[in-house]
Amino acid sequence: MKKVVVANDHGAVDVTKRIVEHLKKRGYSVNHLGVTSPDSVDYPDMAAQACGEFLAGGYEFGVVACGTGIGISISANKINGIRCALPQNVFAATMAKSHNNANFIAFGGRIEYTEPVEKMLDAFIDSPVEGGRHTKRVNKMMALEGGVC
Ligand code: RB5
Repeated sequence: MKKVVVANDHGAVDVTKRIVEHLKKRGYSVNHLGVTSPDSVDYPDMAAQACGEFLAGGYEFGVVACGTGIGISISANKINGIRCALPQNVFAATMAKSHNNANFIAFGGRIEYTEPVEKMLDAFIDSPVEGGRHTKRVNKMMALEGGVC
């Protein structure tokens, strides 16, 4: 069964519940690392847990969420091997996979999206990685890991 790892902070409990339900409907085995309560947690800790689990292997992709999606996506992108997209809409979610070959997608629980997160998630899942000229750019992105300018 296809597997997804999911983690969120207290700012994204409701949206993450929707995401988990949608992923299950789509036939994924979902490993939700939490949280499910409004008690405050730190989004870098949740990002680290999700990315660590993903990098251990066996997952198709990961989903992280916080109030805006910003803090948890920045945190995820600090971890080697992670390419976490924070799409604004269905178009960006499509491009995140097809051009950027993202392996994580982030959402904001306090953001009013113009399109449902379920549709953004579907676009991300269903878009093939385009490769070709984008491969070189993805490789260049990854070569920036740990870099100092
Ligand atoms: C937590 O209050 C909030 O800062 C967090 O969920 C997120 O929005 C950070 O980027």
